[in-house]
Amino acid sequence: MTPRGELDEDNTTEIAIDVIAHTDLTTSDIGRLRRLFDAEYNQEFGEWDPELPYGYAPHDFHIVARQHGEVVGHVGWARRSIHVGDHEIVVGGVGGVLVSDCARGQRLGGRLMIRAAESMSAAGSIAFGYLGCREDVVSFYTTCGWSRIFAAENSISRAGKPVFDAPGQPLLILPIEAPLSSWPVGEVDLCGRAW
Ligand SMILES: CC(C)(COP(=O)(O)OP(=O)(O)OC[C@H]1O[C@@H](n2cnc3c(N)ncnc32)[C@H](O)[C@@H]1OP(=O)(O)O)[C@@H](O)C(=O)NCCC(=O)NCCS
Repeated sequence: MTPRGELDEDNTTEIAIDVIAHTDLTTSDIGRLRRLFDAEYNQEFGEWDPELPYGYAPHDFHIVARQHGEVVGHVGWARRSIHVGDHEIVVGGVGGVLVSDCARGQRLGGRLMIRAAESMSAAGSIAFGYLGCREDVVSFYTTCGWSRIFAAENSISRAGKPVFDAPGQPLLILPIEAPLSSWPVGEVDLCGRAW
């Protein structure tokens, strides 16, 4: 589905990027992904769970970067119909965006985000990519072509309870099959957990 063996910026070390359906993850894929996530988050959030990562929604597809057999980067996304104002919109909800400490600053995050958008496009019938993030990382996503929106958001929290976030928290969208200008005004209801 995707080309393998892309070269690093310095053209010395190959980093392969694959798109893997959640149901096709092997035990060894899961082990390597767990190593990537646990190195970053285990101390604060405990062990990574592929079926409910840190209480967020799971992914349908995993964009996985590998170097020397280890996973060094990941972006996940899942298809969902959400509500925005009076409209129903099919989004690819993005989460689990992580590049290992040793591979940061080499455009790998950007490449993973591009590949995620391509795989949403290939999957078909997805209007927008959608994600929420921390304020300090917004500029990474805007560099990747995502646009910030200002809207209230209803979702299910990591603990499984309904939660309302007032407008202003970082929410970003990426046009996939719909033009950016067609994103409706109104409150967002994720109809589930964030990714
Ligand atoms: C955010 C992250 C995925 C970026 O990966 P990366 O491979 O280092 O990023 P890239 O090299 O592709 O950077 C692309 C652009 O984003 C910018 N950028 C990179 N990391 C950034 C960050 N943490 N905050 C803001 N901007 C960032 C870069 O400066 C670059 O901008 P430029 O084109 O103007 O030079 C990586 O730093 C990471 O895994 N951080 C920890 C986990 C995390 O915060 N994930 C996001 C959760 S919402």
